[in-house]
Amino acid sequence: MNFEKLRQHPKLPQHLAFIIDGNGRWAKRRGLPRSMGHKAGMDMLKKQIEYVRDLGIKNLSVYCFSTENWNRPQKEVDYLIKNLFENMIDEFKQKYLDEDVRIIFSGDLDDKRIPAKVSAGAHELMEKTKHKTGFVLNPCINYGGRQEILRATNALIKAGKMVDEQQFSRALYTAEMLPLDLVIRTSGEMRTSNFMPWQAAYSELYFDKTPWPSFNKKHLIKALNNYIKRDRRFGAIKE
Ligand code: IPE
Ligand code: IPE
Ligand code: MG
Repeated sequence: MNFEKLRQHPKLPQHLAFIIDGNGRWAKRRGLPRSMGHKAGMDMLKKQIEYVRDLGIKNLSVYCFSTENWNRPQKEVDYLIKNLFENMIDEFKQKYLDEDVRIIFSGDLDDKRIPAKVSAGAHELMEKTKHKTGFVLNPCINYGGRQEILRATNALIKAGKMVDEQQFSRALYTAEMLPLDLVIRTSGEMRTSNFMPWQAAYSELYFDKTPWPSFNKKHLIKALNNYIKRDRRFGAIKE
């Protein structure tokens, strides 16, 4: 099925996530510094956001920086946090504030290691788009699934609450997003690396060997064609 046919297909995911991986290897293969891989990855991300929106998929989460990524060399961390994400936030402000796009950032933005400009910009985007009902874009920065679960648990304990699954879901960053249907990870690694363990408990997983900066529209179409053929049983059986 081509892009046009996939658009508005009844079985497309409502909430898609990208674990963007392979930026460093993409650069290394070309004899470039890892930062150039991250830059190329950001360019591809901007294109992919538009393809996903154009398809009519309602929610998109993107794993951009994990709580474990602080363990990388300071130079790389600085490039990502101070350079790339700061630019990304500026561009999102220019691009999305006038559109029907809601931006939610998942992750601990108030961490002292994140520059004030980045966290203030992210909070501003969330605040100014919170009434939007169209497409939801969820960049996950300084995000860790275990951190998210602990944060929610501690908040609930503080409130003295016993909760059920639905109420617990409401205590997560993704509280106002649709259930996560499909997680696409690029670059061949077969793991989820602390990405949305709660939300992805029943998501479909798709792994592509292509490194993220080369993961283009054709690869996305292939992944979605694979997904729409899947039989999601959720533990039940067909009569
Ligand atoms: C994904 O690419 C981006 C981040 C995790 C920040 P990597 O930087 O992990 O690239 P590889 O996996 O080392 O090639
Ligand atoms: C996962 O990629 C984190 C992000 C995509 C932001 P990593 O490259 O950090 O994960 P590992 O080290 O392969 O598990
Ligand atoms: Mg990686």
